[in-house]
Amino acid sequence: MRVHVADHPLIAHKLTYLRDKRTDTPTFRRLADELVTLLAYEATREVRVRPFDIQTPVGPTTGIHLATPKPLVVPILRAGLGMLDGMMRMVPTAEVGFVGMVRNEETLEATTYANRLPEDLTGRQCYVLDPMLATGGTLTAAIRFLVELGADDITAITLLSAPEGIQRLQADLRDVDAPVTVVTGAIDERLNDKGYIVPGLGDAGDRLYGVI
Ligand code: URA
Repeated sequence: MRVHVADHPLIAHKLTYLRDKRTDTPTFRRLADELVTLLAYEATREVRVRPFDIQTPVGPTTGIHLATPKPLVVPILRAGLGMLDGMMRMVPTAEVGFVGMVRNEETLEATTYANRLPEDLTGRQCYVLDPMLATGGTLTAAIRFLVELGADDITAITLLSAPEGIQRLQADLRDVDAPVTVVTGAIDERLNDKGYIVPGLGDAGDRLYGVI
């Protein structure tokens, strides 16, 4: 598994506002959207393309188009939805599938409660959106799910990650043949005993949707 920390000053600047507990919900949502756009730029460096012939007003040339099957963007409900628009702005022709996962706050394990994905993901590049890579339980389960459906190249985009979550993904996905990449805005210090990222930004879903 590859981990790419997108340590760009604009990303760090926006993350600082996002973390600040004084940042209100509309501002939080806008910042998350802008951050995803920047992260998507990094995450799609190896998106598959094919040559495409065009005529400019001056003459013929060969450019590129996204290859088919088109990439699949998979926001993990609920908080991943707050990342969807930013991602689709960068890859408007991608298709979108949804996975609903909820974390049991006692065991911290993830279970699936919704699945709207194509049945066959053979040959698909998938971009999974989940703002917080905390224990790694949700992302491990989601990535396994996509691999079982045939996905053969998976990139998870997270705003923040905990070292514990990265280690768990690395350990739990050792037997997965498909290449897996995590692109994240920052790797924080640790998890606290409630499974929150420290310093983190609190509960991303609550802050996106104004439920406290
Ligand atoms: N989920 C969140 O929203 N925040 C955390 O810190 C950890 C998991």
